[in-house]
Amino acid sequence: MSRLILPFLLSLAITPIQAAEHAHHAVPQEQRAAIRLTTEEKAHIHQEMRLFLSATQKIVASVAANDMKGVAGAAREAGMAAAHEVPGKLREKLPMQFKKLGHATHQGFDDLARDADSLGDANHALKQLGQVMSNCVSCHAMYRIETGKR
Ligand code: HEC
Repeated sequence: MSRLILPFLLSLAITPIQAAEHAHHAVPQEQRAAIRLTTEEKAHIHQEMRLFLSATQKIVASVAANDMKGVAGAAREAGMAAAHEVPGKLREKLPMQFKKLGHATHQGFDDLARDADSLGDANHALKQLGQVMSNCVSCHAMYRIETGKR
């Protein structure tokens, strides 16, 4: 029986720390910078994002099916050429870092498409996708969109 006491006491000591951590996660503080846009501009960005997500899904599915032509085609859908023309007014409102990350993402998909075509190396494609997706992660951690209506 006494062998059970030490673990029990330890668990009591740890509980308040875990509770504090839990509370911290339950009420996340907003850290992201707000970009103020019209609802139309927001819809434009969101549409672009759903294209990114859809291309990413197709790339992963094509890699799994060992279809490197499919990988190239899907990546090209999210490349520079496919980028929707950003209206001048919207471009003015976007922070420089946001534009850089967006550009790097389109560029990264183009690089992925080119290499998938020329090398046909699934592992290389996944490595590139991981790099491209670090842009998704960084930008999402940094920015949120705010419209007039709340
Ligand atoms: C340059 C910045 C940036 C990059 C890069 C970026 N995103 Fe986003 N993403 C955003 C912002 C800003 C939002 C909107 C957040 C909000 O509404 O507050 C968003 C929203 C989204 C949404 C939700 C769209 C909707 O219709 O609700 C998806 C899905 C998404 N991103 C996927 C991706 C994927 C996948 C990538 C990478 C391949 C990516 N994003 C790269 C900034 C970015």
